Amino acid sequence: MSLDAAGEVVADVKVKIANLKKVFNPKSVVVVGASSEPAKVGYQVLNNIVKNGFKGKIYPVNKKSTEILGVPCFPSVTACPTDIDFAVIAVPAPMVEGVLKECAAKNVKGAVIITSGFSEIGKKKEEQALKDLADKHDIALLGPNTFGFVYTPSNLNASFGPQNVTAGKIAFISQSGALGISLMGWTMMEKIGLASVVSLGNKADIGEKELIEYFNDDPNVSVILIYMEGIKDGRQFMTTKIKKPVVILKSGTSTRGAQAAASHTGSLSGSDKIYTAAFNQLGMLRGRTFTQAFASACALSMPEPKGDDTLIITNGGGIGVSATDECDNAGLKLFEDHVWLEEKFRPTMPEFGSTKNPIDVTGGGGREGYQKAVRVALAEDRIHSVIVLYCETAVLDPVEVARAVVDEYNAVKRNKPLVVTMVGGERSRQAIQILNENQIPAMTEVREAVAGLKSLYQWKEICARPKEKVKTPEAPAKALEVIERVRKEGRTFLLEHESREVFEACGVPMPKWGFATSADEAVKIAEKTQMYPVAMKITSVDIIHKSDVGGVILNIKNADEMRAKFDQMMETVKKNAPNAKLLGVNLCQMVDGLQCIVGMNKDPQFGPAVMFGLGGIFVEVLKDVSFRIVPFGEGEAKRLIGEIKAKKLLDGYRGQGAHKESIIKTLLAVQKIAEHVKEVDINPLITNKDGSFAVDARIII
Ligand code: ACO
Repeated sequence: MSLDAAGEVVADVKVKIANLKKVFNPKSVVVVGASSEPAKVGYQVLNNIVKNGFKGKIYPVNKKSTEILGVPCFPSVTACPTDIDFAVIAVPAPMVEGVLKECAAKNVKGAVIITSGFSEIGKKKEEQALKDLADKHDIALLGPNTFGFVYTPSNLNASFGPQNVTAGKIAFISQSGALGISLMGWTMMEKIGLASVVSLGNKADIGEKELIEYFNDDPNVSVILIYMEGIKDGRQFMTTKIKKPVVILKSGTSTRGAQAAASHTGSLSGSDKIYTAAFNQLGMLRGRTFTQAFASACALSMPEPKGDDTLIITNGGGIGVSATDECDNAGLKLFEDHVWLEEKFRPTMPEFGSTKNPIDVTGGGGREGYQKAVRVALAEDRIHSVIVLYCETAVLDPVEVARAVVDEYNAVKRNKPLVVTMVGGERSRQAIQILNENQIPAMTEVREAVAGLKSLYQWKEICARPKEKVKTPEAPAKALEVIERVRKEGRTFLLEHESREVFEACGVPMPKWGFATSADEAVKIAEKTQMYPVAMKITSVDIIHKSDVGGVILNIKNADEMRAKFDQMMETVKKNAPNAKLLGVNLCQMVDGLQCIVGMNKDPQFGPAVMFGLGGIFVEVLKDVSFRIVPFGEGEAKRLIGEIKAKKLLDGYRGQGAHKESIIKTLLAVQKIAEHVKEVDINPLITNKDGSFAVDARIII
């Protein structure tokens, strides 16, 4: 337990994470709500714990029975004879707090509350009371409203899900109970091995961050897969330390889906672009469907590829072409030295087989053909990863192919990534199970095998990123001074020249600019700074849409034109907006180049987020923008600008391209005022070979 500055109890997250050990590896478990009625949840949980072979002490708590499922019962938690590490609570909601207090008195350090009927139905106060108790006593608390969890290394199935989960290295964390339980069943059918399945429930206490950080140091877990609908606290989530691959399957990506997620778990789902930013920034991988997410999780248990060259081995042309397409779409490189391939692979196939990548051992290739081709692919250092495809035929039993692949792979001690797709009927399904049982990722779809392999390459790139220690940069005094002045005037927005003053202080690259209250002053500024050609814009706190009232004139070339246009603008604007108080004009040098946008606003869960993309009219039409959560450093800024679909334009496609250094400078500079403003909009930020220039500047406080 920790105390905050006001002396209030706050969660000690480090202690909670450490206490998760008591949850997953307890020496003793109490099941409160254990019942002898098989239809009850409390019976099913106890049954799972007993039948799954848990080796620690089990204490069912039941006031009426002396024994359930052959295990002696106790009338209360405090009546149990020894210390207790971990409690499963499955009593009706009004009893839960009392039971948790008893657990605290017994020094229990881990608990899962299965009971529903808390924040998900609006009972936030009741749930907070459980959280407060857990914080006060350093209890790592899962739930409420969960189906429990399974941890195969300790043979502990503290859930009312299926028994006999296949053991493996994936920790699967699910925010949805029903989906979690059903996917447990699905993984068992596919023989995909799990180290753990955790149902998060309402996440009153333990959430994704704590579990990821616990599993980071758990040698029984090599990959973490999370089904997520929404994050409770985005800022806290951004502090998650990632040491192992994390694959996220996030739903609620559409507006309607987000609404459905909000009513399902009560969590805010938020904008998918912001979640994408958060996942990218943290170095988490994304699965689009549950089969694809599991394909990635399985592939991520494979060895890291030593290079980029992938080889496809197939018995069918069509499936080989599909795999080639998928590799191309995913950006996976196929090995291309056809002379070398002919030399190495010709002996593995009949004359009519193909040694071009995909290696086609043909429909008549047989077990031996596969075995030989896989052996060569695994033995040769020039091949860095292998995709094996098989279309079921009457000539060759897929189970034979699977066994051949397993034998070859084990013989070389799993030396490089290898994924398999088998397409066919019953026997192909069996073959897939054999492969998965032997920790070789096998799927029914080419797309998934390729996505799995792609995840391995993505993880390799993530691991190679230089570590950046970033914190939100401080705002310069000059910027704060301007913001404070505007605030004191009771305004919520800065005028353009005020925004420019703030941006300039932060280091946002500017074109030549000035603010003038008369035609003479405008001419003086333009001549002194050699600003022509110039854009002139009206300045008034009463005018938002300047061009609508004739308040924007572009391309002013000299002093005479400046004087004439100044007078013309004043006259037109006075006519169109007679009540507006005109303060003067903004002058800004005309700049040519590619129009980009840099924005910043506050996300309800993640706080300030910076946006970058194509600007001007493209923003609305193409919406080709990407985000990063503040704070982020140079490496992330680089990745952000490399993430937009139009990145080729930035690289200089049939044109002069972008000045990336100054875009990065802008993305870093705007973060300085993240804590002090509500919204920032630089649209356009025009970029050309000489630099980038904030041509329009808007700040809302
Ligand atoms: N101390 C000890 N035992 C107690 C206490 C107590 N304070 N209070 C009740 N009990 C006993 C009861 O006597 C009963 O035992 P018995 O069968 O021998 O009489 C047992 O605990 C269970 O209590 P019941 O009142 O029978 O409650 P029931 O089992 O019907 O429901 C439950 C309890 C399952 C926790 C229910 O309230 C609930 O929340 N169900 C939803 C669970 C759920 O769906 N969670 C989300 C999963 S995610 C998904 O969607 C799949």
